[in-house]
Formats: sequence, structure tokens, C-alpha cells
Amino acid sequence: MAQIQEYQEYLLDALEVVDFKLIRDKADINNDALIFHPVMAHQIFGETETIFGYQDLHVRVFYTAGPLHIYLGVEYGTRVNEVSAGEMNADDVVGTIAHSLPDGCYFINLDEFLKTLDKADKFQPFGEKIGEYTRPSDDGSERLFEFYQCDYKVPSFLKFFARLQTFILWFVDAASYIDTDDAQWCYFVCYEKYKNGDGQYQYATAGYTTVYEYYAYPQNKRPRISQMMILPPFQKLGLATQLIETIYKYYQSQKNVVDITVEDPSEDFQRLRNFVDARFCKELKSFARNEIVKGFSKEMVREARETLKLNPRQVRKVYELLRLYYTNVNDEKEYRSYRLEVKKRLNAVYYKQIKDLKKMERYKMDTEMLRARLPNMKQRMEQLQEEYAVVEEGYKNTLAKLKA
Ligand SMILES: CC(C)(COP(=O)(O)OP(=O)(O)OC[C@H]1O[C@@H](n2cnc3c(N)ncnc32)[C@H](O)[C@@H]1OP(=O)(O)O)[C@@H](O)C(=O)NCCC(=O)NCCS
Repeated sequence: MAQIQEYQEYLLDALEVVDFKLIRDKADINNDALIFHPVMAHQIFGETETIFGYQDLHVRVFYTAGPLHIYLGVEYGTRVNEVSAGEMNADDVVGTIAHSLPDGCYFINLDEFLKTLDKADKFQPFGEKIGEYTRPSDDGSERLFEFYQCDYKVPSFLKFFARLQTFILWFVDAASYIDTDDAQWCYFVCYEKYKNGDGQYQYATAGYTTVYEYYAYPQNKRPRISQMMILPPFQKLGLATQLIETIYKYYQSQKNVVDITVEDPSEDFQRLRNFVDARFCKELKSFARNEIVKGFSKEMVREARETLKLNPRQVRKVYELLRLYYTNVNDEKEYRSYRLEVKKRLNAVYYKQIKDLKKMERYKMDTEMLRARLPNMKQRMEQLQEEYAVVEEGYKNTLAKLKA
């Protein structure tokens, strides 16, 4: 009986052998410069993110660049089935990936897939255009990106979106597909508008954000940004930053929007958001330098909420960021006053716990166990210093961008 250990060289890292490509043209099929790899694969291939049974394996996951039709295929040198005389079976890679895709929305025949490419020049963005953004490309020409908003009322969009959201399993931690039957979802998609080989404009899909529009009494809504994904070939071009700004402007112009929140933001997302919010707030009266040095104020919360729809917690973060922006860290007095301000906020929970304990003790309650769990003053000071260092480090990157 063959042992799996004998076939260690047939155990492959999925992150290395899965090749994604966005296909604009038939020639792209053979252009390896377009390949990008997934960041994670545990939702498809399990915790170890491995594929068993092949040597020299390439798993091809190709999407047409605009409408995102999907091709799945494998190429390999040898397969364990043959070398083990049928005793071992290679993983069914295509079947496993297909399992994570919306029903019937992929091709395993390359020619059939390429037929959809012939019609890709007809592909148009869905919904309403709400913004655009240009940036210079490496060859000096301009790249044009357009942002669209769409909702469940366009059925063909939902089919397209089902293909678009397949990327998140490979690129966003702990991601799951959203339920597109839920009418509260609002979709924002970014496309690149480019000239194809015939000199005609065509669209390529670049990324998206989903926003859940919660109801708020009596006739208001509170949009919550949920997923955001910029496809890897389009990352670091400023698209996420522009997309967030565009979404903000879209909701800021609506009177019945209470505020905009973000669901469980990743570190990357929080950084982008801080930058966008700080850039907006910097222009507000209550965030002017002379106001900021006086400390955090209710007026900041009010103005940022009314004009930018920011929620109070985020306003406080932006205040700290902008205060650091205006603080001369070489002036010990100024810098110290800044640190105290942030530490006061970081320490608020600790002081609340102490206050609660004292209250309980006044009522002669036994607080011994609870007290033992709390750090003593010295430990707390050390913790606080560490917490502060993390906060300041997080702000520094954003400050550099604000100053650029
Ligand atoms: C996180 C994510 C949305 C960012 O998208 P993006 O379009 O690359 O973001 P931006 O280009 O606007 O900004 C990203 C960084 O690139 C920098 N940048 C912007 N233009 C740049 C350029 N031309 N060259 C180099 N860097 C650039 C920005 O300053 C920013 O720097 P920072 O990360 O230090 O703050 C994207 O990486 C992604 O989809 N990741 C996977 C999914 C995910 O994590 N989503 C968020 C949680 S749901």
C-alpha cells in the first residue's frame, strides 16, 4: 500500500501554483507577465493551503477583464495517479475551485471561454456613473477609471457581481459572499476605461465596495461599508482611496443619511479611511489649527457629522491624527501635551473599571477577584506606553501622506 509520505514532492503550495489572469485580449492567455497569485487559499483548499498529486502544476484561473467570465484549467507534468499505478489519486483541483463559484458560471473549455472574449468589447458598466479618476501610467499616457453605483434592481448586474465577489475568498481574510437577494445592499464598482487594439473604448473591472444601508428611525439610513476589494493588478494606484471618497460624496449629498460606518475594518482599510477622513476634516472650521490645539470638542463631532457624515468615534481618531499633524514633536511641551491627550482617551476604560470597583466597594461588595484581574498602577503605565506607541505609529504613515 502506497504511503502519502512517499509522495511528498506531489504536495504543492496552492499560493504558488494557482495563477490568476485578467484577460483583455487573446494574446494575454500566453503572457505570463499578467499572472498574479492568491494571498490565501484556505477557504478553497483547507487550512494547509496545499494541493496533492501533481508535479509542475499550473492552475489557471482566468477572468475576462470586463464581464469576468471565468475559465478554470490545469496543466501539469506528472500526476500521482499514474506514478502510483492507480493507488493514489490527485486532488480534483478544478472541481474544488468550481465548488466555490456561483453555479455554472465558469468554463473548462478554453475555446468556449475565448468566445465570450469576442463579445467583451460590448461590456458596459452597470448602474449610474458617480465619479471618475485619472492618473498617469508608466508610459506617460493617462489611465481613466470610472466609478458606478448599482443595486439589486438590475438583475444582469447581480449575475456579474456573483462572479466579481469570487475574488474575495482568495484575497480577503475571513470573507464570505454576501446575500445578493437582500435589497439593502448597495454596490460601487470601479472600471478602467481603456482603448483596445482597434482604438475603441472598452471597460475592464478593477474593484468594488459593498455597502449595507441600515434603516434608521424615522426615515433615515445609516450606510455601513462592508467589503472592499481592488483587484491585484490595480492595487497601489490610489483606486481604493478614490473609491472611498466617491462613496462618501455619494452619501454626504443625501439628507436622510445619518452617518457612514465601516464593518470590522482591516488595518489596511482603516489606514485608507483615516487618510480620506483627515483630508476632508482638515478643511472644516472646527479642525483648523487654532481650534485643534484647544482639544477635542463637541463642535468637531457636530460639524464632521453634519457635513461629512462621520460617526463620533471616527471623528475622535481624525482629531488625534490632525492634532499630531499640527504638533511640533521637537517642542517637548507641545509633544507632551499631545501624548497626554491620547493617553487620556486610551485610559478611559481603565478609569471606568476602577470607578466601578470603588462604587461596588461602597456597597460592601466583594471585589477581590475583580481587582486581581486589573493591572496595578505601574503595570498599567507600561501598558499605556505600549498602546500609545502603537497608535502613534499607525498615525505616522497617514501623516506622511497628508503632508505629501
Ligand atoms: C486594501 C485595498 C482595498 C487597498 O486598495 P488600493 O487601491 O491598493 O489602495 P490605494 O492605492 O488607494 O492605497 C494603498 C496604498 O498605496 C499607496 N499608493 C497609492 N498610489 C500609489 C502609487 N502610485 N504607487 C505606490 N503606492 C501608491 C497609498 O498611499 C496607500 O499607502 P498605504 O497602504 O501605506 O496607506 C486592496 O489592497 C485590497 O483590495 N486588498 C485585499 C482586500 C482587502 O484587504 N480589503 C479591505 C478589507 S475588506
